[in-house]
Amino acid sequence: MSKRIKELLGSDPDGSLVKAEGWVKTRRDGKNVTFLEISDGSCLKGLQIVVDREKTDDKELEGVTTGASVTAEGYLVKSQGEQSVEMQLEKLTLLGSCPEDYPLQKKRHTVEFLREKAHLRARTNLFGAVARVRNTMSYAIHSFFQENGFVYVNTPLITASDCEGAGEQFQVTTLDISNPPRKEDGKVDYSKDFFGRMTNLTVSGQLEGETYALALKDIYTFGPTFRAENSNTTRHLAEFWMVEPEMAFCDLYGDMDVAERFLKYIFSRTLEKNEEDMKFFDSFVLKGVIDTLEHVINSPFEHMTYTDAIKILEKENSRFDFPVHWGSDIQSEHERYLTEVVAKRPVIVTDYPKEIKSFYMKLNEDGKTVRGMDVLAPRLGEIIGGSEREWRLDVLEERMKELGLRKEDYWWYLELRKYGSVPHAGFGLGFERAVQYVTGVQNIRDVIPYPRYVKSAEF
Ligand code: 4AD
Ligand code: MG
Repeated sequence: MSKRIKELLGSDPDGSLVKAEGWVKTRRDGKNVTFLEISDGSCLKGLQIVVDREKTDDKELEGVTTGASVTAEGYLVKSQGEQSVEMQLEKLTLLGSCPEDYPLQKKRHTVEFLREKAHLRARTNLFGAVARVRNTMSYAIHSFFQENGFVYVNTPLITASDCEGAGEQFQVTTLDISNPPRKEDGKVDYSKDFFGRMTNLTVSGQLEGETYALALKDIYTFGPTFRAENSNTTRHLAEFWMVEPEMAFCDLYGDMDVAERFLKYIFSRTLEKNEEDMKFFDSFVLKGVIDTLEHVINSPFEHMTYTDAIKILEKENSRFDFPVHWGSDIQSEHERYLTEVVAKRPVIVTDYPKEIKSFYMKLNEDGKTVRGMDVLAPRLGEIIGGSEREWRLDVLEERMKELGLRKEDYWWYLELRKYGSVPHAGFGLGFERAVQYVTGVQNIRDVIPYPRYVKSAEF
């Protein structure tokens, strides 16, 4: 039976006969020997295969070029080179040849070039490592919550409500958009649409997540979310994965505590399980990324209120493209200043003005700020957004009225506040931002297999 290359590389070079399968990364022909490196994605390194050409029929090596798929049988022996083991070939079988126009010939490619070859890029060192780290992080997310008694809940992707109220949703419809049915006033008649109403792809599973938290106490979601934001940045996607825990009988302090422990847990797990990949990122993607993560794991996050953050930032207004004052949004450049210059570690900013946050956040006694929190990470800025939820029916209704949200559209959300309401809180982690942070990869488009962003949905 064949073994994964990771397993073979970790085995004793005991001369046993083994079989490996993979894609040829490189081929070097010497005078009497040919060296092949084959990789199967199980780890960063490939297995070196030594072909003694005197013993091998030349035909066997025909068509065995970079990118070709092969199975190789041979003896696992001690390597002369940097690796501990290599294979002394007995029998090579070419499965799929790979002509010269293969775009991933052995040389360095830019990430921009590789984005256009997203169907092949997982075969490169960088994208293979990203995929393995992403896998570990997904698993660690589930482990963290499972070990802490949270129930995994699947919230709908098609919804009729707008959780963030930002109007950045993709519409879902089966109507003929070139000729939709219309009402007498000329507006589109959505009662004729598939769901009998207007629907969208969800921007967050939070609202439905809350309904389950108010029955099971601690729940989490982990699924795709969609935002039609016209943001052409290195940290925005139109389709991204979000992790959203929601906890009943929990306030903002409890929420922040879980957020911090959760991030540290997934970072540690990745350092532990993907040592080789992390060393690769540290050498070729972002120098010092391992130290940074270790520092984050070992030091407490900084906390400050929005009001205090603005006081700090206002003094530095001359250095910002967007000077701030109380009431303004904290933008990427400010987030970076707070984390990189002021705190030199992640910062949790709390108690934002209600005007710049969503309708569901609990109103503070000052009537001006809400119990929201953002976790900001150096280099990246906002990685988590969360809050204690407004659990008082009258205050929530009042807030929705101020914002012009229709009670009828949120009737079920409001009923949670009517029937056995409790303080509760939660947050959302942008999964790709977390992967970006851990790997040091600069552009969010390179930490998801098939990125969707403005004007781009190939593959
Ligand atoms: O801050 P956001 O908008 O919060 C929510 O959606 C809440 N309903 C979460 C909750 O309390 N349950 O988004 C949460 C996180 C952000 O901090 C960011 O990391 C990520 O989601 N995010 C994006 N990631 C990639 N591309 C985008 N366009 C993103 N928008 C938000
Ligand atoms: Mg946010």
